[in-house]
Amino acid sequence: MKKYLFSGLSLMVVCSIMQTACSFNNSNKNSMDSTHAIIAKPFGEIEGKPVTEFTITNKNGMQIGVINYGGALTKIITQAKDSTWGDVLTGYESLKGFTQTGNPYFGALIGRYANRLAKGTYTIDGVEYHAALNNNGQSLHGGLKGFDKVVWDAKTIGDSSVQLNYSSKDGEEGYPGTLKVQVVYTLTSNNGIKMEYTASTDKTTVINLTNHAYFNLTAGKDSTIHNHVLQIHADQYTPVNDVLIPTGQMLAVKGTPMDFNQPKRIGDDLDKVQGGYDHNWILNKTEGLQEVANVTDPESGRVLTVFTTEPGLQFYSGNFLDGTLTDTKKGIKYIKHGALTLETQHFPDAPNQPSFPSTILKPGEVYTQSTIYQFSIQ
Ligand code: BGC
Repeated sequence: MKKYLFSGLSLMVVCSIMQTACSFNNSNKNSMDSTHAIIAKPFGEIEGKPVTEFTITNKNGMQIGVINYGGALTKIITQAKDSTWGDVLTGYESLKGFTQTGNPYFGALIGRYANRLAKGTYTIDGVEYHAALNNNGQSLHGGLKGFDKVVWDAKTIGDSSVQLNYSSKDGEEGYPGTLKVQVVYTLTSNNGIKMEYTASTDKTTVINLTNHAYFNLTAGKDSTIHNHVLQIHADQYTPVNDVLIPTGQMLAVKGTPMDFNQPKRIGDDLDKVQGGYDHNWILNKTEGLQEVANVTDPESGRVLTVFTTEPGLQFYSGNFLDGTLTDTKKGIKYIKHGALTLETQHFPDAPNQPSFPSTILKPGEVYTQSTIYQFSIQ
C-alpha cells in the first residue's frame, strides 16, 4: 500500500492503480469501467498552510471531494435513474467560499462538540468550563474556531481513502485536554461514503463529532428539498427551547410533525414546525453500525441511506439558508430549505443533561464513531 503525505503547493497526483485512472473526466462517468483512484490538487492556502482537494472516484464513476480545510466534503457526484450525473452536495467553487463569514459549515467536520452547549458552560469533575460562545449566547459546533475552520494533516490510504488528523490543544475553544482526532473518509465500491472517527485525550473532556454535509438530491434541478421523502427510524426526539437548547425532555414523535417512521414528504409538515426542522431524533437503533434514516428524491430516483453507530440524528431542513452565500458552486443561490443535513451525533447539550447518553472522554479511552452515507437509485 502506498501512502502519501501532502505538503507544499505543488500539484500532486496520486493514482494508486495506474496512470490512466488519473485522467478522469466526465466522459468516462457514463461507462462502468472507471477505476478506483484518488487525485490530489492544490485548493489554495490559509494561515500559510496549503490546502489540498482530494478527489476520489470509484469503479462505478461516483466521485467525492474532500479538502483538509475543515475536513470538508466538496462534492458528491452520483447518478440519477436517467443515468445522468449530478452533484448532490451544497458547496463552493473555491476555498474563498469555505472561509467566508457565515459559511454554515458546508460539508465540514464538526468538533469538539457538535451542536449546542447551553451558554457554553459545562462541568467535569466539579470544574466549570466555558466553551466559546458563537450563537445567541450559546456555543455551537465547537465555538468560534471549531474543527471546521482548522487545517488538518492529510494523507491518502490506498486508492479510496483519505485520512485526516488534527491535534486540538488543551484549552482550545474552552475544552480541556489535548485531543488527538483522526477521521478517515472512504468512498466504497458500492457508492458509500464511510466516515470513521477516532480520538483520544490526555485530560477528561467532552466530545461529539459529526459531519455537516448538506444534500439536495436533485443536484440543482429543484431549489428546495420540499419534495424529498424522508424516513427516520426514531420514536422520540429531544425538543428545544427558543435558543435551540434541548429542554431535557424526550418526547414521542407519534402523532406529531416529527414522525418520520413511515417515509414522508418533507414539505408535508414543514410549516407546522416553528422555524422548520432543526432537532435531534433519538434513534431506535440498539448497538453497532445500523441503518437509521433514508431520504429519496422521487424525481431523480436518488436515495441516500444513513448508517451510524451514534444514538442521535440532527435533521436540519436548511432553515437559515437565505441565498446570500457567495462563491457557491455555479453561483447557485442556496435558499431557505434549499438543502438538508442528517448529522449523526450524540445529543446536543448532553454534558448538561444527565439523562442523555454521556459524551465524556477520559484519558486512556478511545472515542469512536462511524457513519456511512450510502447512495443508491430507486
Ligand atoms: C444546527 C442549526 C444550525 C446549522 C448550521 C445545525 O446543525 O442544528 O441550528 O443553524 O447547523 O449552523
